[in-house]
Amino acid sequence: MTIRLKEAADWQAIYAIYVAAFGQSAEADLVQSMHKDGDLLLSLIAYNDLPAGHIACSHLRLIEAPSIKACVLAPLAVVPSFQKQGIGAELVRHSLERLRGDGYDLAVVLGEPHYYGRFGFDPKLAEKLKTPYDGPYLQALALSDNGKGAHGPVSYARAFAELN
Ligand SMILES: CC(C)(COP(=O)(O)OP(=O)(O)OC[C@H]1O[C@@H](n2cnc3c(N)ncnc32)[C@H](O)[C@@H]1OP(=O)(O)O)[C@@H](O)C(=O)NCCC(=O)NCCS
Repeated sequence: MTIRLKEAADWQAIYAIYVAAFGQSAEADLVQSMHKDGDLLLSLIAYNDLPAGHIACSHLRLIEAPSIKACVLAPLAVVPSFQKQGIGAELVRHSLERLRGDGYDLAVVLGEPHYYGRFGFDPKLAEKLKTPYDGPYLQALALSDNGKGAHGPVSYARAFAELN
């Protein structure tokens, strides 16, 4: 398997990955809207000969702690025929490595704690944030000591507000 950064020509493939993984177009539309808005700070596609998975990452503004550089790791999708082969994990790990390198302090996800816990994401850290997605599925990971102080209301990329 090789993971490489998305190029513009991959947009059709990225859209198809999300529709295949979620069985609907809402998440595909979300990623496309973030792209159009210029809100994607990281967009990685995994190829296993064919396009197999994608992860998107956008900036998250911590309104009361603006010095903490935070991002949302979402959505993540792997085409069903390529699932359970470690592609999702590889996309998450690769993203976290890139984000640390880019000086990010905090990453936030919304998903199964059973899945994201293996990367160090923790619902307890996310409890200090005030988001539209508060609850047990919201998890956060401090990428630096600064990130451990994350708290208060947040502002997501505009496109998330369109997602039901
Ligand atoms: C969630 C999702 C991204 C996971 O992708 P994935 O590539 O299947 O994930 P991984 O392979 O890294 O891990 C999945 C499971 O496969 C197992 N696995 C990983 N590599 C494996 C291998 N080589 N052989 C067998 N199993 C393996 C993992 O241990 C994990 O098992 P567990 O969760 O039952 O403990 C994918 O299922 C998906 O796209 N789902 C629909 C969309 C979605 O819900 N997205 C997340 C919210 S935004």
